[in-house]
Amino acid sequence: MMLKAAVIGVGSMGQHHARIYAELPGVELVGIADTDAAMCERLAHRYRLRSFADYHELLEETRPDAVSIAVPTSLHYKVALAAIERGVHVLIEKPIARTVDEAERLIIAAEQARVRLAVGHVERFNPVVIELKRRLAQGELGRILNFRAYRLGPLPMQIGDVGVVIDLATHDLDLMRYLTGSEITRLYAEVQHVLHLSLEDMLTGVLKFANGATGTLELSWLTPTKIRELYLTGERGMFLASLLSQDLFFFENGQFTDEGWPNLQILRGVGEGSMVRFRIQKQEPLRKELEDFVEAVRQTRSPTVKGEDGLIALKLAEDLIRSSREHRVLIYGEES
Ligand SMILES: NC(=O)c1ccc[n+]([C@@H]2O[C@H](COP(=O)([O-])OP(=O)(O)OC[C@H]3O[C@@H](n4cnc5c(N)ncnc54)[C@H](O)[C@@H]3O)[C@@H](O)[C@H]2O)c1
Repeated sequence: MMLKAAVIGVGSMGQHHARIYAELPGVELVGIADTDAAMCERLAHRYRLRSFADYHELLEETRPDAVSIAVPTSLHYKVALAAIERGVHVLIEKPIARTVDEAERLIIAAEQARVRLAVGHVERFNPVVIELKRRLAQGELGRILNFRAYRLGPLPMQIGDVGVVIDLATHDLDLMRYLTGSEITRLYAEVQHVLHLSLEDMLTGVLKFANGATGTLELSWLTPTKIRELYLTGERGMFLASLLSQDLFFFENGQFTDEGWPNLQILRGVGEGSMVRFRIQKQEPLRKELEDFVEAVRQTRSPTVKGEDGLIALKLAEDLIRSSREHRVLIYGEES
């Protein structure tokens, strides 16, 4: 049976949700809604479907099974709740909501309504992340010692409701938890507010993980070129993943050996070994994310990125801002 999908908010991100639903086999895109009625109508015309300026009317008249919500972050809660209360499965663009309190309410509402709630942490579906996770699970890096994440670029003019931390840190905090398989136990951050009208547009964060690894996170809306890179240093070398070009490199530690007399370890050190660039089949991560959401709805299983993942990423992002405001280190749970 065809799954009826809809999209609420068809701006820079939502239009891609609409395009992909229109192409996915087994899915019928039944309508789109956006308060920018003229733009919404133009897009609806392209896909030969109905457009709505009011998302309540879209939900009432097209009765979708599943909906993507890509309105500005501060509206995620209100729009997602309206869909959930009608028994519609929701994929909410990241971050899950504007505040932790709203995110918690959405998760409870979805449980009560027995609908799937997925969060659009699209990097989880980036083929370079999937390949990196596979290689880490095989022990190719050994113990992870350090994780550095960079997400830098120019100021996005359409975002007025949240600063760079709520908007972007949620991506990398989620990736850090996922790739290390370890929770963050301590964090400290410094933010700057330079160009954005009211909110922070730069962050430097320092993190400690439960498995003992350390990490840094650099976010910026003040960099004139886009950089999205992860560096993972471990016992056997370093992985470099470019999330934009979907390239994965491994810099091997030339001196590493598994055997040896423990007392010699101190002399062993780290040396430059070979560098490998892995061949990765490039794919559009958003298409994979929507396929996963549709399958989760069809098979009554959890989506890959659940509401709880979105909530934890948002809570950590809020705490980075709090740490910076209060000039203090925040500590959670047990540390190694
Ligand atoms: N996963 C990612 O990598 C990624 C990338 C970009 C944006 N996003 C997220 O997607 C969301 C939207 O961001 P964007 O960059 O597309 O913003 P945008 O401003 O380009 O699009 C938002 C759209 O929502 C519409 N809208 C506003 N209020 C509405 C309402 N009440 N009902 C219906 N439509 C309404 C606006 O007219 C606009 O077209 C944000 O939460 C953002 O964080 C995620």
